[in-house]
Amino acid sequence: MCGITGYTGFNQAGPILLDGLKRLEYRGYDSAGIAVQGEEEIMMLKATGKVSHLVDKYNDTPDFKGVCGIGHTRWATHGIPSDTNAHPHLSADGKFAVVHNGIIENFAEIRAELEKYGIEFKSETDTEVIVQLLAHNYKGNFKMALMKTIAKLEGSYAIGVISADHPGTIFCARLSSPLIIGLGLEENYFASDITALVSNTKDVIDMDDGEVAELTPEGVKIYDHAGREINKAVRHITWDIASAEKSGYEHFMMKEIMEQPQALKATIEPRVKDEEIVFDELKLDMKKFNRVHITACGSAYHAGCVGRGIIEALCRIPVEAEVASELRYRDPIMDDKTLVIVISQSGETADTIAAMKECKYKGATVLAIVNVVGSSIAKLADHCLYTWAGPEIAVATTKGYTTQVVLLAMFAVWAAGELKTISHGAYTSMVKDIMRLPERAQRALDLNSRVMKMADKYYDNQSLFFIGRNMDYAVALEGSLKLKEISYLHSEAYAAGELKHGTIALIEPGRLVVALCCYEKLLDKTISNIQQVKARGARVLAVAHEGNRAIVTEADDVLFVPVTDPLLVPVIEIIPMQLFAYYVAKKNGCDIDKPKNLAKSVTVE
Ligand code: AGP
Repeated sequence: MCGITGYTGFNQAGPILLDGLKRLEYRGYDSAGIAVQGEEEIMMLKATGKVSHLVDKYNDTPDFKGVCGIGHTRWATHGIPSDTNAHPHLSADGKFAVVHNGIIENFAEIRAELEKYGIEFKSETDTEVIVQLLAHNYKGNFKMALMKTIAKLEGSYAIGVISADHPGTIFCARLSSPLIIGLGLEENYFASDITALVSNTKDVIDMDDGEVAELTPEGVKIYDHAGREINKAVRHITWDIASAEKSGYEHFMMKEIMEQPQALKATIEPRVKDEEIVFDELKLDMKKFNRVHITACGSAYHAGCVGRGIIEALCRIPVEAEVASELRYRDPIMDDKTLVIVISQSGETADTIAAMKECKYKGATVLAIVNVVGSSIAKLADHCLYTWAGPEIAVATTKGYTTQVVLLAMFAVWAAGELKTISHGAYTSMVKDIMRLPERAQRALDLNSRVMKMADKYYDNQSLFFIGRNMDYAVALEGSLKLKEISYLHSEAYAAGELKHGTIALIEPGRLVVALCCYEKLLDKTISNIQQVKARGARVLAVAHEGNRAIVTEADDVLFVPVTDPLLVPVIEIIPMQLFAYYVAKKNGCDIDKPKNLAKSVTVE
């Protein structure tokens, strides 16, 4: 989705803004633009398509000079991707330029009002009303005009604004959309995402809803919703630019797949002390709850499906898992005895935020499992546990998903300990198995070259099925999503036992069925489903535990992964499926890190 960035200092802003926009590309976008305060007026450059087109325009415009500016990558919501609709947007008098991430819900009303004053709009965007209203409100005081403007806006926004009359000054504001200020030496920055800033500074301020920031080269001032100056903590980022770069890999997705042992380790180890799971950051009385709801979107929801199984198995408490886009409109039955677990890598997913607000409104306690520190979901939740996966850039989540699953498993073991629904032996055995996941993940990654061969063999299947039971079914959902989102092949995940109730009609000679067979309690059942599809001519690629001899005679090909506890199967079993999706997409010539029509963080409904 959209990304914003800005710079004020003593260097030329153009290259800094373009570098920031390149780092925001992973979020998904269809046009980009920058604006700087020139000698006499605000100068703008925009391009439809890739940031590289904008870089070409910049290189062809030697007069584009200024030490203070703003930049934007746009993912179209209001109006087609075009140079006119691309940000920054300029006020009709040419005095102000704005970049915006979010949606102004009452833009039509504001636009109609401003048009009555004869103000002419150039674009179809909701964003343009911000800058036109700002210019309309401006009577010589930049800050006051901005405060008056944002007071009128409904919806969500992270904005950056420059004015031709105020050299070196940028104002930013936020409501329900991420915004970070970066602090430098006689130069300061803002962005919607740390990755855009981390090559320049590691000291940041996380903006909260309703706050406004004033950036000049000399310093940063933060104001509350009433315009009073406030003090905010400075956060030092511990990861470096290499974490946000490809480090020699061809794609971020492959780098992030390979980083999983390390990401799992970082998520697990600080929370295990003397074979006990300790969440120092969590003050939660589990005895208060009589049910759990898990809600999330996409892969995070698939992690939630795994979490449902683990929590129910260990805590013996009813658990529901539901996609946030449905839960938010379902008027769910919950109260102060309900624990809601929301899961999100980015912490900015609009549907998940809306669902958690609805749950809070109904009195539920919300625990968030989030990767991005200081994100909206982390802030809105009553309690938060962070996955320590590090920055995830590829649109298709990999280490984000596996760290979510392991954290849910750790939470389930911890909660079962609190509720005394787990024996000492079972508790210790789970903790030991969790501790061994990084090493087992590494062994699953050793399948890399074998999975590549499988992709060579099967990449041209235009439609395929993933089947499995219980934990294997949860992995089927994620494996299927991974494949379709980056390779654009049609694929469906089915509970293996459900196939015969209709979908088996689609099985025909040559159709590939990926059978997940690591949940051994139900292995016999899954094998009979494999036999049913084989009888109709399907080819079967199975994923099974090392030592599983039965599967060899049933499937055409098998990928063997290390044995682990049945409840932890998904963390390991998904790894060859991530690799399979990657290599199939590569064979099909797809844009792996930035699949068409998708965005990393879905901040619109
Ligand atoms: C996963 O590969 C997808 N890109 C997508 O389903 C994602 O998991 C979903 O949009 C939720 O994102 P979040 O974890 O940032 O909330």
